Parts: sequence; structure tokens; C-alpha cells
Amino acid sequence: MPTTAFIYTTSENSIEKGHVTWESPSNIALVKYWGKKENQIPANPSISFTLSNCKTITTLSYKKLPNPSDEYQFEVFLEGNKQDDFKPKINIFFKRIEQYVPFIKEYAFKIETSNTFPHSSGIASSASGMSALALCVMSIEKELNPNITATDFTNKASFLARLGSGSACRSLEGDIVCWGAHKEINGTSDLFGVKYPHKVHENFKNYQDTILLVDKGEKQVSSTVGHNLMHKHPYAENRFKQAHDNLSKLIQVFKTGNLKSFIEIVESEALTLHAMMMTSLPYFVLMKPNTLEIINKIWTFRETSGLHLCFTLDAGANVHLLYPENEKQQVLDFINSQLVGYCQNAHYICDNVGFGAKLISN
Ligand code: DP6
Repeated sequence: MPTTAFIYTTSENSIEKGHVTWESPSNIALVKYWGKKENQIPANPSISFTLSNCKTITTLSYKKLPNPSDEYQFEVFLEGNKQDDFKPKINIFFKRIEQYVPFIKEYAFKIETSNTFPHSSGIASSASGMSALALCVMSIEKELNPNITATDFTNKASFLARLGSGSACRSLEGDIVCWGAHKEINGTSDLFGVKYPHKVHENFKNYQDTILLVDKGEKQVSSTVGHNLMHKHPYAENRFKQAHDNLSKLIQVFKTGNLKSFIEIVESEALTLHAMMMTSLPYFVLMKPNTLEIINKIWTFRETSGLHLCFTLDAGANVHLLYPENEKQQVLDFINSQLVGYCQNAHYICDNVGFGAKLISN
């Protein structure tokens, strides 16, 4: 599909003002997006579990300006407080999406946003935040063009979210979303995320994700800088191929429910992501000593208990613990007895697979 298909052209209605609220969750990648081309096109396909509890709730209020403005007119509030330091990122987002939703120049916006997880938890809010905002913008488009189909609405919202932050395009639906063209998964595209279309075994139903907050500080390396490190990276081509192969293997795993293979793919993906950062120029170590302590404890626990707990990592020190729902109690006991001491202020967040964004009010 060409990107021109996403350009808004018709204007059946005219609206003066209104407001809309969407909530959108975070997601955790199993096969990682790491490396991108121009215009937020991923270097390889990725796949993620959509989360349920970690989410952003955004209200977009809009009022028509007497004349279209040269600058984007908006104010941003986080948990009720004016948040001017969010403005540059939103400005870039508006600039990237303007050709697809030109009406944004015709309105003054108030963006009120809040997260269910603490802002200083080290959990990235860009996936949930950008997807919630993209959905709000699409709700305006729907007011202007009520004939847009539900599929076109979701695909375009994901397309816009991607322009805000790549991984955000995987947050709109659930429970498993892929982004990036993959030859064995029908309908996949580099332009937007799609719900995983193949069979998924019962074992993955309501899969659990407990996030251990090892380091609540600001990200050491921004995603943009991180993705750019894959340009001229000595292992880039092999890595991109590996992501395709891992996704092929996951199709089988989802079909058969083979948790042993699931664990192998997911942990290898996490460690490869970090290996890419350790072997780039400049190089970075984003794990902390406690990250490694946790990984070693998980491996021992898995061996002695025979349970299916595994970990994944984003581009930081926090650890996502993934495990089947029927092992929840034993894993929580293990976390509380052996892992909580490695978390900053003993802080961890319990989440599970969820089903995507929701319209709260319109
Ligand atoms: C490590 O989506 O944050 O979480 O497109 O530059 O906003 P930008 O990057 P971003 O990258 C996320 C990378 C990751 C892996 C993943 O979620 O697939």
C-alpha cells in the first residue's frame, strides 16, 4: 500500500470544536524493532504482546482557528500540570503527520494526558502516549469523514502512531501485534501494525508480564540514537535476517504452544538487542549489575522449578518477566522472596496481555 493512501482529502463535515478521550496501552516486543530507515520504516519486522495495565489516557480538545495557522497550536498537560518539555516531541510528530491529516493546522489543541504507571518508573511512555494521541487525531478525522471504515481507521491510526514512535504502532490492538513486512504473515506492512492473524495456543492466553524496575532514571540512550547505531553496524545485516527467522519460528511456537522454544527465542532477542548496543560505535552497556543478578536468578529458578518463567529487556536496565498465567502464584512468590531486592525501592508492576486501545469518550 503506498503512503499516499493515507492522505486525508475529503471534507464532508466541518466541526468547530470538541474533545475526545482515548486510552492506549504499552506493549512489550518479543522480536525487537532495532534499526530503522527514513520515515520510521523498520529495518526488520517485530512482534509484541500488547499490555493491559500500563497505559496512557489522553484527552484532545480542539477548537477551530479563524485562519489556519503556520505553527501548530497546542498546549500539553501531564497529570494536570503544564508540560512544555513534551512540546518538541509533539511538534515533530505533528510535522510528520501533517501531510496525512492537514486539518491539524486548522485547530488549536489542548492535550491532557496521564499514565497509569509512574512517569519516573523508567517505563517508556512513548508507545502508549503516541498511540493515544494518534487515535485522538483520527477521531477528528472520523468526525470530518464519518464514512471511514473501522479497519481504515485503525490502520491509519497505527500509521500515524508509527510516525510518532515506531513501537507505538503496535499498541492499538491486541493481544499480539506484528509490524513490518514478513513473508509468512499475511497483511504485515512496514507502515502500520496488524493483529497477529494466525493461530495462538491456549498457553499464551493471558500471559503475564511483571516489570521489575531496576533503574527508574532517564533513558541512558534515546531510542532515536539507539536505532541510528544500527547504521553501519558490523552485525546489522545478520541481525535483521535473524529477526525474520525468529518471527518464522514464533509462528510455529504460537501454533504448538511450545514454551521451551518461546523462552529461547524471547531471551535470545533481548540479549541480541543489548549485544547490538555493546558492539556499536559508540558502544553502551544498558544493563545494570542488578539486571544480570535477576537474569541469573531466573535461570536457576527455571532449572530447579521446571516452570516457564523467562525475561525480556527493552533498551534499558528494567526486566520484563514473562510467564504463563497458571504459574502466576509460584512466580510471584519467587519475585517476592528473591528478586524484589534488586528493584529500586522494591518496585515492580504486574501486567498481562491486553486487547488494545479503547475510546473513552467522544
Ligand atoms: C527496544 O519505538 O521507542 O523497545 O521509533 O525512535 O520512537 P522510535 O523508537 P521506539 O523503539 C523501541 C525499541 C525497543 C524494541 C521494540 O519495542 O520493538
